[in-house]
Amino acid sequence: MLPITITRTSTPKEKPKDESKLDWGGTFTDHMFLCDYSTEKGWHDARIVPYAPFPMDPACVVLHYSQTIFEGLKCYRRADGALQLFRDKDNFARLARSAKRMGMPEPDGETFREGMLKLLDLEQDWVPRNRGTSLYIRPTMIAMDEKLGVHAADKYLFYIILSPVGAYHAGNVNIFVEDQYVRAVRGGVGEAKTGANYAASILAGKLAEEKGCGQVLWLDGVTRKNVEEVGSMNIFFVYGDTLKTPALNGSILPGITRDSVLKFAEHLGLKASEETIALDDVLRDIRNGSLTEAFGAGTAAVIAPVKSFIYQGETYRVGDGKTGKHSQKLYDTLTGIQWGTLPDREDWITRL
Ligand code: COI
Repeated sequence: MLPITITRTSTPKEKPKDESKLDWGGTFTDHMFLCDYSTEKGWHDARIVPYAPFPMDPACVVLHYSQTIFEGLKCYRRADGALQLFRDKDNFARLARSAKRMGMPEPDGETFREGMLKLLDLEQDWVPRNRGTSLYIRPTMIAMDEKLGVHAADKYLFYIILSPVGAYHAGNVNIFVEDQYVRAVRGGVGEAKTGANYAASILAGKLAEEKGCGQVLWLDGVTRKNVEEVGSMNIFFVYGDTLKTPALNGSILPGITRDSVLKFAEHLGLKASEETIALDDVLRDIRNGSLTEAFGAGTAAVIAPVKSFIYQGETYRVGDGKTGKHSQKLYDTLTGIQWGTLPDREDWITRL
């Protein structure tokens, strides 16, 4: 593991006063963790420094060719004031898989995780207290070469920034089913957590918003008949006591919340199935009432119940549009473990 130097800020910022008004992802703490990479030196110069913009050459590879990956995880404050992380090792494992897919060097997981823990120690007062709030952690890796040729870079920067956050969605979500644009195809980068996937989603997101939808449901890129994911979260459908989610097929992000939901299902007496899910079946089953609930699952979104899907001008309201009992139970179970009010049976929690 590399040594990590710490330079403290001399001008700490004011922390958010009203935690019930926290926005999502627009407020940042006083410090950040950085580490550089070059082909000659490998990872070096691990450091915590005051949060500030860093210089980038206009020719920087990441700005032109999107060679970038990131992660999202959260630090939670328990009722007794202690801090904890949820499945943080899984985030670092996924970061390593994303790096491989994007032709980036292997992250120095040990140093980066230690850098995150030291950063959290320094910023512990920034972790909000209200239920439903947390400190969002954004590890990011970007290509830093100043060359316009399309190539794997020789220089990279890894950094971690922290943001106190409230809820990502204001309430239950309306989802626009996108059948013109696609997010990813098998063999592409859909299963890597890379900025490119999010860039590909922005136009459709904007059009969906114009139709009153907060999110887009992506279909598979080849037949555009099967459901894939929502971009900022994985999607689940509830049929009575059975949960169904699209099987990971190479173009879907393997969500850590998705995986947690599948594991909780066993404890909650639900059946869980990962399978190919045809959009036509989903729409038919909403109409005939056998599909009783739908929800998205993600770190930012947590468990986000779906109010309705809009497809080709028609609205398909799920159940009565309110939060269903299984969605609520899964939300309570997940957040109970994350905030430390329920036992951590799977050994997913890191106490700080
Ligand atoms: C997360 O849930 O952490 C994500 O990365 C989704 C984000 C793009 C809002």
